[in-house]
Amino acid sequence: MTSATLEVWRAQVHATLKSHIDALPAGRLRDAMRYAVLDGGKRLRPLLCLAACVDAGDEHEKALTPACAVELIHCYSLAHDDLPCMDDDDERRGRPSLHQAFDEATALLTGDALQSLAFQLLAEGSGIGTRARARMLSELSRASGAAGMAGGQMLDLESHVSANRSLDYLRRTQRMKTGALFRAALRLGLLSAERAIGVLDNFCEFFALAFQAADDLRDCLGSRARLGKQPGSDARGDTLTWPSLLGIDAARAAYGQYRETCLDELHQVEFEAKHLTELTRLTLDIEDLR
Ligand code: IPE
Ligand code: IPE
Ligand code: MG
Ligand code: MG
Ligand code: MG
Repeated sequence: MTSATLEVWRAQVHATLKSHIDALPAGRLRDAMRYAVLDGGKRLRPLLCLAACVDAGDEHEKALTPACAVELIHCYSLAHDDLPCMDDDDERRGRPSLHQAFDEATALLTGDALQSLAFQLLAEGSGIGTRARARMLSELSRASGAAGMAGGQMLDLESHVSANRSLDYLRRTQRMKTGALFRAALRLGLLSAERAIGVLDNFCEFFALAFQAADDLRDCLGSRARLGKQPGSDARGDTLTWPSLLGIDAARAAYGQYRETCLDELHQVEFEAKHLTELTRLTLDIEDLR
């Protein structure tokens, strides 16, 4: 996948998200939704969804609506993640976080409304067959809820309890808070291409752990420019992370192992996962962390 392809896909995702938000009633809530969604963000989950669809043999356009639905859930999770009652982060994507730019109540309602919009897109989007649509709704709701992202965020908050400071607990938390939405993105891409949904699950398992290990390392070692916010948030909040549990060197080693394993997993897939391999290489890169 060339970076030109990525830029085209990102632009299409942006335009689709924008058209859906612009169609909402004008006002403060819509302004906050625009702020939370339309400025910045790597769009990794949509790109995974589109790449899965293309590698599975279909046109990326078929997966555009599901890709945007996953991104809306992700943006909602970030709006809530930054709130003072959660990570208490004042910055996100190089700007004031949503509750700083607006206020806490608006950030809360923006998350609620983004979540609803995600499911509205899936329920109403054209070009999705009846069976695929039902399955997509089921996958995304499961991935967002108590057994997925929201449940993982709860485990993250409970990670302060000393009995929970173990490797098993860390992996379970990250599989849920981060991995569940990645898996849904990939599965929705596969469903768009009318493929069996489980074929990328093994890849996703290790991709998510590598991604979150890199995110944790970057919070310790990264620059404000690359992170889009002041580093050190995890240490301030005493969050259980790879570096806090294992130290920097072992966290780096775990990251490297998961990165390698997820790339190996892509070789096991029944189709040639060309775009996903390239996207993984571009995403899982911590060269900036010396
Ligand atoms: C941040 O995700 C939240 C985590 C799961 C670590 P991203 O790093 O994908 O955030 P954006 O969308 O690019 O801002
Ligand atoms: C956030 O993890 C995961 C979700 C929002 C579901 P982090 O708290 O590590 O994400 P950042 O570092 O704030 O982006
Ligand atoms: Mg968090
Ligand atoms: Mg956070
Ligand atoms: Mg983080």
